[in-house]
Amino acid sequence: MLKIYIDEKKIISRIKSIAREIENEIKDKETVFISNLKGSIIFFADIMRFIKSNNIIIDFIATESYRGKESSGEIKIIKDISLDVFDKDVILFEDILDTGLTLQTLINYIKEVHKPSSLKVAILLDKPSRRIVDLKVDYTGFVIEDFFVVGYGMDYNERYRNLPYIAILE
Ligand code: IMP
Ligand code: MG
Repeated sequence: MLKIYIDEKKIISRIKSIAREIENEIKDKETVFISNLKGSIIFFADIMRFIKSNNIIIDFIATESYRGKESSGEIKIIKDISLDVFDKDVILFEDILDTGLTLQTLINYIKEVHKPSSLKVAILLDKPSRRIVDLKVDYTGFVIEDFFVVGYGMDYNERYRNLPYIAILE
C-alpha cells in the first residue's frame, strides 16, 4: 500500500528554494551537474529547470549496490560520466542519503578519478537514522524518518519511479 508522505506541492516549493541557493552560489560560473542514476532523475530534472544560468552542463553516473534491501557495503559504479570534469566545479545529485555508503563511494571515486576543482553534493532526502559513514552534504531537500519511500524517481524493485509525490511503501 502507498501512503503519500511528501506531496507534489511541498516537493516543488523545497526544490525551488534549493535551486535559488545553488543559483546564488554558482552565479554564471560553469558548473557540471551530475545525476546518480536512476533515483535522482526527477529531482535533477526539476531542480535544474529552476536555476537561471547559461553555464550548466549535465552528465550521468550510475551505481549499484549488492544489497537486496540491506546495504552490504559493496557499491559498484556501473556507468561513468562521459565528460571531462578535471578542474571543474561539480555538483552531484542523489536521491537518498541512507547508510552513506553509496555517496561516500561516489565522492571518493569522482575526486580520485576525475579530479574536479570542487565537488558539492545535493540530496533530495536524508535518512539519518541508518547512517554508517559520517558525511557532509551541501544541499538537502528533506530529512525523513526511517521509512522506505518510493516515487519522484525512487523505486522498489524498479517500480513507482513515475509517481509525482513521495510515498511510504507499506
Ligand atoms: P546508502 O548507500 O545506504 O546511503 O543508500 C542510498 C541508496 O539506496 C539510494 O541511492 C537509493 O537508491 C537507495 N535507497 C535508500 N533508501 C531508500 C528508500 O527508502 N527508497 C528507495 N531507495 C532507497
Ligand atoms: Mg535505488
